[in-house]
Amino acid sequence: MTPADTADELEIRTGDDVVRVRQLVRLKATAVKLSLVDQTKLVTAASELARNTLVHGGAGRAHVEVVESDGRRGVRARFSDSGPGIADVEQALSDGYTTGTGLGLGLGGSRRLVDEFDLTSALGQGTTVTVVKWTR
Ligand SMILES: Nc1ncnc2c1ncn2[C@@H]1O[C@H](COP(=O)(O)OP(=O)(O)OP(=O)(O)O)[C@@H](O)[C@H]1O
Ligand SMILES: [Mg+2]
Repeated sequence: MTPADTADELEIRTGDDVVRVRQLVRLKATAVKLSLVDQTKLVTAASELARNTLVHGGAGRAHVEVVESDGRRGVRARFSDSGPGIADVEQALSDGYTTGTGLGLGLGGSRRLVDEFDLTSALGQGTTVTVVKWTR
């Protein structure tokens, strides 16, 4: 399977979908020649965000694409859902904060693993998190 064969958009409805998102992100990260360490960082972040989409958002989608800027390539992964949204984004990003049964480390951890991190959320409307990892 080559990156050209893979869809850029995946639904996230089950735990198996989260696994598929991981595989897709790994494939694109390999395609742009991210280092093994950076591949793993991005895949780990994507895995946490996909799980949040499923667990907190109820379900949603992942969009994964190769991007290019100033001659550098990278992978951008966007996770969006139409779930309850996040009331206090800063609080949600702080380590140890959870409204569920997790450790509350997913969001803050993800942010530290990537080069760019953007979280947009509206109460009652949903959440979108976009991350980018660049080759160096
Ligand atoms: N997509 C989302 N929709 C609604 N709320 C979210 C979403 N993602 C995160 N949150 C909120 O932010 C909190 C922190 O998320 P984070 O991923 O850091 O921790 P967690 O998912 O609760 O636990 P962990 O990821 O450590 O298993 C969540 O408990 C939840 O309240
Ligand atoms: Mg989480």
